[in-house]
Amino acid sequence: MNEDKKTVAILFGGRSTEHEVSLKSAWGILNHMNRRKYRAVLIKISRHGRWMFLGDIEKYSGVEDLEKAEGPIAVTGDPHFKGFMVLDGAVQKPLKVDVVFPVLHGRHGEDGTVQGLMSLAGLPCVGAGVLASALGMDKIMMKQMFFQNDIRAVDFMWFLRKDWESRQKRKEIQEGIAREIGYPCFVKPANTGSSVGIFKVHEEDELADCVAESVVFDRKILVEKAVDARELECAVLGNDEPRASVVGEIIPANEFYDYEAKYYDDRSRIVIPAKVDASVSEAVRLMAVRVFKVLDCAGMGRVDFLLDRKSGGLYVNEINTLPGFTPISMYPKLWEATGISFEALIDRLLELAFERQADLAGSRSVR
Ligand SMILES: Nc1ncnc2c1ncn2[C@@H]1O[C@H](COP(=O)(O)OP(=O)(O)O)[C@@H](O)[C@H]1O
Ligand SMILES: [Mg+2]
Repeated sequence: MNEDKKTVAILFGGRSTEHEVSLKSAWGILNHMNRRKYRAVLIKISRHGRWMFLGDIEKYSGVEDLEKAEGPIAVTGDPHFKGFMVLDGAVQKPLKVDVVFPVLHGRHGEDGTVQGLMSLAGLPCVGAGVLASALGMDKIMMKQMFFQNDIRAVDFMWFLRKDWESRQKRKEIQEGIAREIGYPCFVKPANTGSSVGIFKVHEEDELADCVAESVVFDRKILVEKAVDARELECAVLGNDEPRASVVGEIIPANEFYDYEAKYYDDRSRIVIPAKVDASVSEAVRLMAVRVFKVLDCAGMGRVDFLLDRKSGGLYVNEINTLPGFTPISMYPKLWEATGISFEALIDRLLELAFERQADLAGSRSVR
């Protein structure tokens, strides 16, 4: 074995609704990692939040193998360990790692929690840090940041589940939606991904049922004007001087890009590059980089847009700080179309994690 190889811990699975997607993304990353430079070790977080060590990748031949679980593994916030502790009965074996690649979509992974733990443990981590991850996860906070920075996003309002459950307050919320947002609108839990708990509400009569299903996923709900829009996406790569990829378009199989249209309906299509005017794609790329910088992201981000079919207005819908990395995912495909192969992309993301760590180490109080 090449002793100069760096060890990458791929952290995947997780407790979110996107556990399965994470397995596919982790497999995509594993298969495109430069094995001459890196040794990959696999750590899976189960649906119940248990951390399991799956060992070296050489033992695995397909994504199904990632369902297997071996012994427990732990990480502490103590930077002296420089990695993880494999727990084998009463024996603890240190597992030194050089960098962590969290491949966890959604809550407890994309939201800054894991990034915080890794930062305490002194481990460089691919992608956004605590703050940008948290801002990118919470659709309400994210949109407030957009509005504060003159980044055009769709008008919205939000409320607490607790208030929805009070009869008086619910009435006020319903009136507020009718007055300020109108129908059709979108109801979304503040913190999900993959369209889980998201509904298009065509008319007022449907609102209560949709909110009832949405509040299952969060204590905060936002309501947005529905835009009859084309969906454009742009990939961003870098730290303080990020680059934008070419622009892609999603053509969902369903009325909107819901969970089924994303992962199961093969009639959903991706078009790269998107067939839009050069001025539109230039605006998308500039705005994608601005969003990335405004939220102080690092490494990667996929910025999603809504292009109003009638007015031509361009709105930022969201940023995903840990986009999908499955073989059909937009993020790696956009870079491929921009001239960066999946392999080169993974290589660059790992380098960017080390670069960010070095940059942070230049600040006092960070070792
Ligand atoms: N305001 C909106 N107008 C039109 N379509 C929307 C709007 N908001 C969301 N959608 C549709 O719902 C999908 C999921 O919403 P999104 O906010 O991107 O959540 P997620 O984080 O789950 O991807 C979008 O890809 C789009 O198809
Ligand atoms: Mg989305």
